[in-house]
Amino acid sequence: MVKLLYSPHLITRRIMPENQEFPMLALSSRVTPEHLFYIRNHFPYPNVDMRTWGLSIEGCVNKPIHFRYHDLLKMPQVTLPVTLECVGDKRSFFQPKTRGEQWGLGAISHAVWTGVRLQDLLYAAEVRRNAREVTFEGMDKGVRTDMPGVFSYTRSLSLEQALHPDTIVALYMNGKPLPFRHGYPARLIVPGWYGMASVKWLHRIVVIEEHFQGPFQVVDYVFDRKPLTPSASEPVTTIRLNSTIAGPTDQEVLAKGENWVWGIAISGSDPVVLVEISTDNGNTWHAATWLEQQETYSWRRWCWKWTVTESGTYDIKVRAKDAAGNTQSEMADWNVKGYGYNAIQHIRVYVD
Ligand code: MTE
Repeated sequence: MVKLLYSPHLITRRIMPENQEFPMLALSSRVTPEHLFYIRNHFPYPNVDMRTWGLSIEGCVNKPIHFRYHDLLKMPQVTLPVTLECVGDKRSFFQPKTRGEQWGLGAISHAVWTGVRLQDLLYAAEVRRNAREVTFEGMDKGVRTDMPGVFSYTRSLSLEQALHPDTIVALYMNGKPLPFRHGYPARLIVPGWYGMASVKWLHRIVVIEEHFQGPFQVVDYVFDRKPLTPSASEPVTTIRLNSTIAGPTDQEVLAKGENWVWGIAISGSDPVVLVEISTDNGNTWHAATWLEQQETYSWRRWCWKWTVTESGTYDIKVRAKDAAGNTQSEMADWNVKGYGYNAIQHIRVYVD
């Protein structure tokens, strides 16, 4: 298996392990084409040998099971459109700066996933009454800089979230077998949650009676705030309300006349109901037009026609509102690891 795969169409943040983002300016359809889908890896790519690969369900169950790829393909399949967003998306906008991949606007992409309901696998294994959480182990492993040892990428979900009918073990992405870089042969998809929950190259599911303490659960993917107390530490779960301008780009020079402002909006909980654009630094706002229907777990593209008659410098902002009445705020929720940036986006353009 190739160890280093590199996508020249993406914006490279790191080559090894491969971490690359979707060039937001290339947004031209709801579904992100495979070659433009962002990639977030903690470790080098694993070796996947399909002669031996299987998915085991073990731990606090009455009937441990080992599913082969063809067993999974034969089970009832569900198809769900789901946007994945890395919780580090937009980290580079935090002030002061925070450590880690300096993602711009594009650690987010959208695909249609098909696979088996996780609940079907868990029911087949007969989860015991005292089960509390379910862990998901990816085949990739490696070292961390902050603690000794070799770790696999393993995360957990509460039993309730694992049994949610929309939590799936995906085998297909956009109608084709999962691409290797996105987790072939099988990956978890946890709709509405930040991407860290959707474990790739899944091969082992363990039902446990306690709270999982792996480093990708309790060290990473928690909102740490200063001072660092247990109450200031909260696990990362669903995608926050957010909106992004794909075009024009910051510092772009435009001509007078008609210009389009366009982009995406997302929320992992209450649906986004309104996107507004300001061209005067937030003094006045205009409702954008949706380019597609609301779908529970999908980003939604919007656009707004801006007719400019005067030359000058314009400060453009975008903000989204959700059905619960929440609006994005001007201030980012700064946290130690630079997660969940969702402040109102601000770009400056010049009209000649
Ligand atoms: N699964 C494994 N096995 N290893 C990983 O490094 N990264 C997670 C998640 N699943 C990861 C993983 C993170 S942080 C994100 S944001 C998504 O995968 C990215 O999925 P993608 O690379 O298919 O876009």
